[in-house]
Amino acid sequence: MKQSALAVAAFGLSRDIFATPSKTLLYSNHAADIIKLSSNENPYGPSPQARKAMSEAINGCNRYPWETTTLLREKISIPYKLAKANVIIGAGSSELLGLASVLAALKKGNIVAPDPTFRLWMPAANKIGAPVKLVPLTPQKTVDLQRLKEAIDADTRMVYICNPNNPTGTVLPPNELETFIKDAAPSVTILLDEAYTEFEDTKSVAHLVNEHPNLIVAKTFSKIYGMAGARVGYALAHANTIQQLNDLQPWANAGAGGISLAGAIASLEDTSFVNMCKKENSKARSIFYHALERNGISYIPSATSFVYFDALKYPKDFKAILEAKNIIGARSFEERSKWLRLSIGTTGEMERVAEAIRL
Ligand SMILES: Cc1ncc(COP(=O)(O)O)c(C=O)c1O
Repeated sequence: MKQSALAVAAFGLSRDIFATPSKTLLYSNHAADIIKLSSNENPYGPSPQARKAMSEAINGCNRYPWETTTLLREKISIPYKLAKANVIIGAGSSELLGLASVLAALKKGNIVAPDPTFRLWMPAANKIGAPVKLVPLTPQKTVDLQRLKEAIDADTRMVYICNPNNPTGTVLPPNELETFIKDAAPSVTILLDEAYTEFEDTKSVAHLVNEHPNLIVAKTFSKIYGMAGARVGYALAHANTIQQLNDLQPWANAGAGGISLAGAIASLEDTSFVNMCKKENSKARSIFYHALERNGISYIPSATSFVYFDALKYPKDFKAILEAKNIIGARSFEERSKWLRLSIGTTGEMERVAEAIRL
């Protein structure tokens, strides 16, 4: 009796979960009208097809997801004209950025990276004994390829480049980036983080992986596909390089769960959702640009789902003004600077941001 009551409750709960908009679940530990713009999450995801696939995949959770993993690796490889052997799956691209930097650190030497950039993988690399040499951005806040090149020495094992760069949203000229990759010594791994390329069709460098076994391209289902909580990422590289990364995983490609993998496969096919996200992100970003302009705040035009801006001339405390209106997420990435990054939410959310910062 007790058990069946539990079963009914569980069934009721599961039905409620799938009927509940993701927003409610996501923010369930916050005030109902909070706007969270801190982590560049997609406010629309997961896609309708991914939600359906994930709910169906629950039934298969008693099995290890080997076939699903293989299928996802195959599907990912096709548009890049690569093979399954060129793809590694991880629990988010974070896992793969971590593995790539551990691999470099194990070779004893230093790692070169721009500053500011996405730093999540740096503490582990440091602990394993690979100091990270940080190279400032250009005055225009773009990644400085020339200075990165100059920072490479005989002990450099890896260069990390985020393109578009987080937190600045800037894109490198494709020919300059390709030349940088082609000119790099084969002993220096180039870790290219392409977490945000889909928002404005930034050109990927994945087509170079077979020619350059020192190139690793990391990508994710967390951003344009709106699946940050599902934890699925992937990297593309030469098959031998993929093998070296696989060797650092307890089980090759087994970091992401079956439900998440099913969602990732379905979301690759849901192109109308991706197009909608691109369009809405662009509209919402424009609302924010105009709000910044109205308040005399300069910003870097962004190819992503976040914007980097200079709050120096804004007469109030920008972060506090937003937080007073339940809008969280304006973040600083540079010491002794008023530059902040804010993620782009829905158009409605960015209108609320615009209203909040109005002078
Ligand atoms: C540049 C960049 N790379 C990688 C990630 C990690 O994403 P995930 O581990 O969710 O795939 C993020 C997340 O914010 C990011 O901004």
